[in-house]
Amino acid sequence: MKKIYHCDFLNHGLHFTPDCFRCCCAPQHGLTLYLKDVAREDAFKVFQKERQITIENTKNGSPHPDCLGCIYLKEYDLDDETLSSEILEKIHKPPLIDYIIINHFKHCDCNCIYCSQGVYLKKVSEPQKSDYYDLLPIIKDFYAENLVDEKNLTVEFQGGSIAMLDEFEALTDIFLEHNAHKIMFYTNGLKYMPSIVKASHQTNCMVICSVDAGTPETFKKLKPAGDFDTVMENLAKYSKYCLKENPITTGYTDINAKYILIQGINDSPDELESFLTAAAKAGVNMVQLDMDFRKVMINKGVHYDIPKHYYELFDLFREKTAELGLYGFIWEYIEGILAKGYFE
Ligand SMILES: C[S@@+](CC[C@H](N)C(=O)[O-])C[C@H]1O[C@@H](n2cnc3c(N)ncnc32)[C@H](O)[C@@H]1O
Repeated sequence: MKKIYHCDFLNHGLHFTPDCFRCCCAPQHGLTLYLKDVAREDAFKVFQKERQITIENTKNGSPHPDCLGCIYLKEYDLDDETLSSEILEKIHKPPLIDYIIINHFKHCDCNCIYCSQGVYLKKVSEPQKSDYYDLLPIIKDFYAENLVDEKNLTVEFQGGSIAMLDEFEALTDIFLEHNAHKIMFYTNGLKYMPSIVKASHQTNCMVICSVDAGTPETFKKLKPAGDFDTVMENLAKYSKYCLKENPITTGYTDINAKYILIQGINDSPDELESFLTAAAKAGVNMVQLDMDFRKVMINKGVHYDIPKHYYELFDLFREKTAELGLYGFIWEYIEGILAKGYFE
């Protein structure tokens, strides 16, 4: 038996956070380069070298210790004759980057009360450089060294608020110049960004906007800045320019209005129904229902029962989206939590 290991994200992913570069999006954080341990100008080279070594070791049967036990690390037996050609191809594919998560900036113009990033965020009202490092030169290095699978690249802008990142436009442009396959923009929707529209006219895009309310009053309880009507107007503009008036016919764009259930604030049928009606009116093609994960993030391992009325809200979401002709998206792990009845 010749044991080998493979992880898609280790081979093809990059995650830029304030204090490190990672090849991982999972809680294990296998292969992490902490930026405090290297000079900034050497970071790209050191990281790339470690990345190569780790990928080789993993392929040769010795995964990174932090990866052991991770659900994304797959073990295969090379002597197994039933191993599919698809898997073999995947294992031997050159480890070019095809997934980038951008999370190195924590400036925000909103600071929603439930935000999982809350403690890291810094409230500002004008675009700023990241407090941690500029990403553009690093992305340029990855392209210059031909380390990116350009046409298959997916990029996720997380954050912080992209509207408050001064290199946001330049970063979007470099991905577009290199014909990225897809760009995902997380936004609070307070500020309309023409760069998003430009991107949607050149490649596949998804705009994920956490609205979380169906009325101006509830919006105010959750968000210390901006207002419900402006966010819905901006979503209507994205829907118009990215969906209806989009000159490319080969790509696909989703304008996703999202609603996180926050107990005691927006978890009523009337509020959720108003949100869905407003989203349909704005012309979005996708809505998403999610749950607040603060409790489980803070108190790891503690068991929380799903409130009974959440089941009615999820049913309402399914019924109402079908009625309005909207694509109603629920993460698979949320469906799993609903089936179990608790999360921890
Ligand atoms: C941290 S935000 C940053 C991007 C941007 N500022 C925004 O508002 O979308 C990224 C995503 O995390 C989600 N998120 C933040 N806090 C959460 C929580 N407590 N539970 C579930 N999702 C959360 C938001 O809805 C958003 O879609």
